[in-house]
Amino acid sequence: MNYSNIISDFKDGITTITINRPSKLNALNKETILELHSAFKAADSEVSTQVIIITGSGEKAFVAGADISEFAHFGSEQGHSLSKTGQDLLFDFVENLSTPVIAAINGFALGGGLELALSAHFRVASENARMGLPEVSLGLIPGYGGTQRLTQLAGKGRSLELIMTASMIDAQKALDYGLVNYVVTQEELLSSCHALAAKIKSNSSVAISAAIKAVNAHYTDGVNGYDVEIAEFGKCFETEDFEEGTSAFLEKRKAKFTGK
Ligand code: COA
Repeated sequence: MNYSNIISDFKDGITTITINRPSKLNALNKETILELHSAFKAADSEVSTQVIIITGSGEKAFVAGADISEFAHFGSEQGHSLSKTGQDLLFDFVENLSTPVIAAINGFALGGGLELALSAHFRVASENARMGLPEVSLGLIPGYGGTQRLTQLAGKGRSLELIMTASMIDAQKALDYGLVNYVVTQEELLSSCHALAAKIKSNSSVAISAAIKAVNAHYTDGVNGYDVEIAEFGKCFETEDFEEGTSAFLEKRKAKFTGK
């Protein structure tokens, strides 16, 4: 499929989605959010895609936020709808995909950009990355899940400091805060993500999807994560991958998973 604002590229079981508006520092306008929704949906439904990597084009920005020019004249109802639609189509959508998503943060990840990275299942940053939620400097608050997901990862005090000061942290601090799992050079960013993806790909994709559901359940109101874990654990015993994984171990060979 052809997109105007993103590039979706499939190779060796990995779909790399690149946000491609470098002249606007990859800011998320409405069209980009719609295209991202459709690219993530397509990748998740292709059995051949085992890992999705999301990144930004250029060396300066992952995403410098939601496109400010699009909502500068909005009223309250439009603001509410902007947040709800964005969360439904992209941010909650990505977090709940059954295919693992890694964010490769290659520069500024601000506002909606950090929120998109936080929606991925985990993150790797390049040394030049800068992260923050500057919304209060615009008279707003984060509206794409940032108040929730940043708090989950960094804790309440760090999250509120970052939000209230609207300041940026560097990659090393993001590592200390638990926002990113690794900091690497810009040149190594995608290859590091591919190396992590290769490890993920060697495992059972059906078990990985179940793990995503169980971990996400911890953060879902009214849902008992332990109950979800028990249910998902039980379901794994019905899968071909379970049969293959345990047989391969007992036969001292490498498992060949089909994801069924
Ligand atoms: N929305 C719309 N356009 C944006 C944008 C955003 N969030 N972030 C950057 N851009 C545009 C700029 O308007 C500029 O466009 P122009 O060349 O047509 O004027 C272009 O991207 C380059 O940005 P610029 O500000 O000139 O780059 P810089 O290196 O001086 O500064 C940033 C980089 C990231 C510090 C700065 O762009 C910035 O503060 N962006 C907004 C961050 C933000 O508040 N995000 C949260 C939104 S809710």
